[in-house]
Order: sequence, then structure tokens, then C-alpha cells
Amino acid sequence: MDKIVISGGKPLRGDIHVSGAKNAALPILAATLLSKEDHILYGVPKLMDVETIQRLLCSMGADIKEEGDACLIRVKAIKSCEAPYESVKTMRAAILVLGPLLARCGEAHVSLPGGCAIGPRPIQMHLAGLEKMGAVISIEHGVIHAKARRLSGAHVYFDLPTVTGTENLMSAAVLAEGETVLDNAACEPEVVDLARFLNGCGARIHGAGTERITITGVSSLGGGSYRVMPDRIEAGTFMVAAAITRGELAILECDPAYLVSVIDKLQDTGATVTEGKDFMVVKGAPAHKKIRSVDIKTLPYPGFPTDMQAQMMALMAISDGLSVITETIFEGRFNHVAELRRMGAEIRLEGSHAFIKGVSSLSGAPVMASDLRASAALILAGLIAQGETDISRIYHLDRGYAKIEDKLSQVGASIQRVKEVI
Ligand code: EPZ
Repeated sequence: MDKIVISGGKPLRGDIHVSGAKNAALPILAATLLSKEDHILYGVPKLMDVETIQRLLCSMGADIKEEGDACLIRVKAIKSCEAPYESVKTMRAAILVLGPLLARCGEAHVSLPGGCAIGPRPIQMHLAGLEKMGAVISIEHGVIHAKARRLSGAHVYFDLPTVTGTENLMSAAVLAEGETVLDNAACEPEVVDLARFLNGCGARIHGAGTERITITGVSSLGGGSYRVMPDRIEAGTFMVAAAITRGELAILECDPAYLVSVIDKLQDTGATVTEGKDFMVVKGAPAHKKIRSVDIKTLPYPGFPTDMQAQMMALMAISDGLSVITETIFEGRFNHVAELRRMGAEIRLEGSHAFIKGVSSLSGAPVMASDLRASAALILAGLIAQGETDISRIYHLDRGYAKIEDKLSQVGASIQRVKEVI
């Protein structure tokens, strides 16, 4: 297994490019199941999770070819309606094939996703919505069995805004009979990106990005070409990298409009953010100024994103004072705390609150990644820790960040990937 080794203390300076968004590419790839026409997708990031869903789609009958930055995909016919445990256990987002499969071929057999490091991750809202649309669903031996001659439009209210739940039902509703209304829908930009992709193929979706999405079913869907939006969480991670190393990074190919909450919080800590149409320049606080402590509360979009919580905690670990980070989305999203403590951070947990007392510096140490964004937090901490930080289990990192060590070393980080001798 690989590990990442970082020697801390170098301010990052230069241009850094953002890849396409993992959490937009996954639902868009799953939604190609809805049509038998050709799709050309640009900006699909080269990530483990993307490879996992592409393998799954091929097992269902998709033909996928990569040509440079283009991903050519066509699902002429569905040859299997199954998403086995092997695919789902490594990537919960495989549940995203459920809605499109059911809509395309009237049945789906998808392994029930288990929990993961950040929480139990239930999907009852996905299933309840599909049942409202006429699906007959049973769960046997850990597999969701869903059947529907043809889905019918329905009025679905989500108890909680669920990103993949909204995406699953929006995709299923595209081919349903009649109109579907999704209320209390997730407003994340990735939901909007999926809607744009589907409307480009002939779907009739209105209101994506708001709490009420209306979908008028069509009889079939066409193909087309589409560029996946840039990854706002990767961009946010690089923003924190500039702030924590007190460097200056031009973060290219990103949309600042999707990062308002992160920009606001980083400016409160003393960093400066200059916004362009498709870039940002982030400058860390000067060496003679303290990094100010700020409080963070994660919320559904447009609130502060839970996927940026761990990264901000790494910054707060060396801030000047006490900050409180409240995680309202996932029950178990503090796995990075124990590892940050190993590096000298002073963090106390009480339920969904983390109380961080900033320290003057962190010390490099061997640490272990536990989930995708926790891995990013450990890298950020390693960039400023005194001495060397070894991060193991970085397969978590590879699920959501394309070659992050190459991107960071190009702007001055002393970071490398090495084979871990067991
Ligand atoms: C998506 O997960 C993202 N993943 C997550 O990103 C992200 O953290 C999350 O949204 C929140 O923004 C993808 O898009 C592939 P939810 P998702 O359904 O859809 C509860 C990353 O790091 N809930 O919006 O699974 C749930 O337990 C990943 O890139 C139910 O109770 O999250 C949570 O508390 C991690 N029942 C809340 O809703 C349901 O049926 C929000 O979860 C569904 C969700």
C-alpha cells in the first residue's frame, strides 16, 4: 500500500488546477443508463470512485472509452440490472444507479450500501421516494430488489435534504409518466450540474438548485456532450492549503460562486481571497499576523459544506484562540481529530461539537487516513507541521483527489507518495 510523506514548513506559491467534480461526475455517469444514445463527457476526474462506477456501468451493458479528456459512453442495451456488493461496499455512491436502472428497464437489484467511516448513511428516503413513484421494493439478504412497469410522477417530500437522494429521484423521474415534484430537495451545485446534463439530453427539469424541483417525464432521452463542473471541494481544499502555509495560490478552473461560505470563513481567519470568473487567488495571513479562530457549523448548501469541515479543522488547529466546529450532517465525521491530536493539536469533542484550542505549531508524526476528507486534513496539517508526517491508508484519498501530491509539489510542497513497506 502507498503512503504520503510530507516535510512541513514550506509556503505554497503558484498556480494550481482544479479537476472535474467527483460528486457531479458520479450521478452524471449513473444517469447515462437512462438513454441508449451516445454521450461525450468532458472533465470526468481520474479517480478511484469514477473507475468503480465505470466498471459497474460496463457490467450493466455500457460501452466506455476514454479519449484524452473525453469519456465516451453509450448504454445501447441493459444487460444486467445488478449492482453487486463488491461495487457498493467500496463506493456507497453506487446507489446512484438505482433510479436510472429502474426508469430504464423497470427493475434493479442493488446491494444495500452499508455505513462508512463518517456514519451509518441510511438511504430510506431514496427508497420511500421510488415507492411513491410506483416502485415495488423489497430488501432481502442485503440487496434492494426494485420493480416498476413504468414509474409514475409523484410529489415527494424529503425529511432531510439528501444530495444523492435528490439525484436518484430526479434521474428516475425523467422517464416517469407525468410530473414529479421533489420538495425539500438538496440545493447542492452538483444537483444542478446533473439537471443541466439531463436537460441537455432532452429531460424537462425545472428548479434544480432550489428546494423544489419539478420534473415532467419524457418517453425517451437523447445523448449529447457535456462538461462536468469543477470540483468545489478540491478548490476549497487548495484554498485552505494557501491559508495554512501562509502562501499564495492561484486556484484555476473553479467557480467562486459555489464557495461563498468557505471564502467568507477564510477571510475571517485573516486570509485574503481575490475572486475571478473562473479562478481565485488566495493569500495566507502574513507571518507576523496570527491566524484568527473562527466558528464553523456545517449545513446543507449554501451553508458551510460538511466536505470542508476536516480541512478547516486543520487550519483552526494552529489558529490564535478557541474555535468551535459543529458537524450537523454526519454523526461520525470527526475521525481526523485523533490523528490531528497525534500531531499536537488540542481538540476536545462533545457530541457534534469539536472545541479546538489553537497551538503555535504542529509536529510531524505517522498518522492514518480514515476517510476521504480526513485524508485531506492530514495532508494540510502535514504541510505546516515541524518535521516529517507519514500518512498511511491513502487509498481513502485516491477516491476523491486526482494526484494531489503532484499538484501540491508543483507549488512548492515537499510531498511524495512512497510504497509502504509492510
Ligand atoms: C453526498 O452524500 C456526497 N456524496 C457527500 O460527499 C457529502 O458529504 C454529502 O452529500 C452531504 O453534502 C456524493 O455526492 C457522492 P446526504 P449523500 O444523503 O448523498 C441523511 C465526499 O466526501 N440521510 O445528502 O450520501 C444522511 O445520513 C462525500 O465527497 C438519511 O437519513 O449525503 C445525512 O445525515 C462524503 N436518509 C444527511 O441525510 C437518507 O435516505 C445528508 O446525507 C439519505 C440521507
